[in-house]
Amino acid sequence: MNILQPVDWSFPVPVRLGPGRLHEIGPYCRAAGSTAPLIVTDRGSRELAFIGQAFDILTAEGLRPQIFADVSPNPTDQDAEKGKQVFDAGGHDMVIAIGGGSAMDAAKAISLIAGHDTPLWSFDFDVPPPAAHRFAPLICIPTTAGTGAETDSTAMITDTTRGIKGCVWHPDHRPVLTILDPELTLSLPRNLTAWTGCDALTHAIEAYCVDMFHPMCDGAALEGLRLINRSIRQVVNKPDDLAARMAMLSGSCLAGVAFLKGLGMVHAISHMVGALYDTQHGLTNAILLPTVLRFNRPAIEQHVPAMSHALGLQSRDFDSFYNAICAILDDLEIPRSLADIGVGRDRIAEIAQKAHGDPAAGTNPRAADVAQIEALVQEALDKAR
Ligand SMILES: [Fe+2]
Repeated sequence: MNILQPVDWSFPVPVRLGPGRLHEIGPYCRAAGSTAPLIVTDRGSRELAFIGQAFDILTAEGLRPQIFADVSPNPTDQDAEKGKQVFDAGGHDMVIAIGGGSAMDAAKAISLIAGHDTPLWSFDFDVPPPAAHRFAPLICIPTTAGTGAETDSTAMITDTTRGIKGCVWHPDHRPVLTILDPELTLSLPRNLTAWTGCDALTHAIEAYCVDMFHPMCDGAALEGLRLINRSIRQVVNKPDDLAARMAMLSGSCLAGVAFLKGLGMVHAISHMVGALYDTQHGLTNAILLPTVLRFNRPAIEQHVPAMSHALGLQSRDFDSFYNAICAILDDLEIPRSLADIGVGRDRIAEIAQKAHGDPAAGTNPRAADVAQIEALVQEALDKAR
């Protein structure tokens, strides 16, 4: 770790936390000069109460909202293009993302390309960003405690031409407001509560283990890990516990802030599995996490004591930490193999090849070549923990 390497801190964004704060979007949009916000959510969330609620709040404020919900579980560049067409044709002036990671990623991509003709993949994380645009203002309202995507501009989008997930962003693009309202997570089904919670757990661990001097992100990662560990079982077993829902939502947000540092091999592999099999992101991460922890062990042992402290463990050795993570996964009834979620053995080489090129592989604390990633996928198919 090079403590003298220059780093830019440019976050977080304005965040409003607390029960009932969804109601503030109406006055906020009106004060910001919006007359026609576009609500973006995913197909699975279209009929959920909070979408209608947000629509009614905006309408009551005298605004002309519209809902765009043609978004896949793993959003694609085609979804983003359709959303842009709706935004442009409807004369919209604000994008409001309401939902989980899919809604958030799609909304970010739409607000990147709305109102101009620069193609989406010009905003690929791996190429120099285009000149600054006047991006459509973006409000993020997560309804799951997991994605952590509500405070930055990066979005994971499936590139339908290349069959991989790519990351799009622009350094000048970020949410103008994030609302963390735990009431919106109360209706999340038990399985999605567990799976999205595992995504947040993975963000905190992977971000903290990235080999970079970033005390702000590291602090966020550890406090996020503490909050997630304290509340993840509770929100699954007692879904109406609003305080636990608030703790999970805050922990997820902190873990999201933390991964400005980068992520690791769990996400690199998971992105490609998701792109090929449309698996649920947090669930895929949860299955991969133990396998990757074992692989990374030589490179992360110095980080284990602080993470163990965040988990409230007496012992600070790797095995105790590893077992504590596996105990969480067991309690949440996470399957023990990628095969259990439909991943086949015929595409291991393809997954490994593509994962090797994912930005998250570049920040994994232990370097891995394609053959090593192939072995990890194989292991996660045989027995992940
Ligand atoms: Fe994630």
